[in-house]
Amino acid sequence: MQGAVRNRQVILRAHPHGQPRESDFDCVASPLRSLELGEFLLRNRYLSLDAGFRQWMNEGSGDGYLPAMQLGQPVMGLVLGEVVESRHPDYSIGDVVMCRSRWEELTIADGADYVSVIQPDPEVPLSCYLGILGPTGLTAYFGLRDIGKVRRGETVLISAAAGAVGSVAAQLARIQGGRVVGMTSSGEKCRWLRDALGVDAAIDYRAAGGLDAALREHCPGGVDVYFDNVGGEILDTVMAHLRERARVVLCGAVSTYGATAPVPGPRNMFKLITQRATMAGFMVTDYVGEYPQAIEQMTAWLKSGQLANAEDVVLGIENTAAAFCRMFASGNRGKSVVRLQEPA
Ligand SMILES: NC(=O)c1ccc[n+]([C@@H]2O[C@H](COP(=O)([O-])OP(=O)(O)OC[C@H]3O[C@@H](n4cnc5c(N)ncnc54)[C@H](OP(=O)(O)O)[C@@H]3O)[C@@H](O)[C@H]2O)c1
Repeated sequence: MQGAVRNRQVILRAHPHGQPRESDFDCVASPLRSLELGEFLLRNRYLSLDAGFRQWMNEGSGDGYLPAMQLGQPVMGLVLGEVVESRHPDYSIGDVVMCRSRWEELTIADGADYVSVIQPDPEVPLSCYLGILGPTGLTAYFGLRDIGKVRRGETVLISAAAGAVGSVAAQLARIQGGRVVGMTSSGEKCRWLRDALGVDAAIDYRAAGGLDAALREHCPGGVDVYFDNVGGEILDTVMAHLRERARVVLCGAVSTYGATAPVPGPRNMFKLITQRATMAGFMVTDYVGEYPQAIEQMTAWLKSGQLANAEDVVLGIENTAAAFCRMFASGNRGKSVVRLQEPA
């Protein structure tokens, strides 16, 4: 495959300031090198666009979990591809592999970085293994299972509910018997949450009346479980509505990833004390050993129609940056993925 083959990659051109812009990225092609012993070559079918990776685009943002992305280097991300060449004993031609890699059409991997071989179900679209059946859906699954612990009839509030993780969390909370209230950024997305995902109520957090009033209206007895994807002001406002023994699932803080100054902490922390509430963070990667059982369960719900697969698919690596920026402008519904074409 090497030789005349050129690999198109998306490069970080500038550290984004605030919201990422298309001009922070570039799509470039370079020749593919040969495989060394212990490596395999993936022809990537899909790239996963993950809001969480935005924080490692900031200058000097390496935090021990992942290194900061460097200017001029390919953007880090998750890919789903098929092994087309192998000099590695554990990976064979035809294997379908999900791994942490770069936004690129072809990946040379050595199996060391968060790699899993997928056994795709022929009745399930392949892209699901990056989204609802991949780290995205599993984030919702484990966060709700271990921290949210939803009980029948409880009110479950979800921020960025129309996004990738949020749309799965909303549906899982409904399966678990919760009364689900989703938050998103427009009336149109609220309608989609109710019609396509079956949430019991939806809140436009930007609406004129204010979030506090909307929470009083839609969560009149308070919030039992808050699955938080956004942090910041919205988290602070929700804290005032926690019910006794509430659980706050700290999944992400997308509203703060572009902050250029330290973000003030929630002011309403005292509510945790008076409401005997708990708040805990988690990383989905802690659960890698449990992925197969969780994927089996989620696949069953998907095939039975209890879970709907919500995807926002763009075609071609050259459209990756625009699709990523759209997520920070509230433009996506469900999981954002890039479907790749055959490399030249
Ligand atoms: N803990 C883990 O292991 C783990 C794993 C994966 C993801 N995550 C986290 O999960 C969250 C969602 O990630 P995702 O990849 O699924 O993205 P996503 O929800 O599909 O896309 C991001 C969404 O966030 C909302 N948003 C963007 N800017 C915002 C702002 N300033 N204030 C409020 N909302 C804003 C937008 O929805 P609206 O239209 O509703 O505004 C947008 O659609 C992120 O915080 C991410 O870090 C955590």
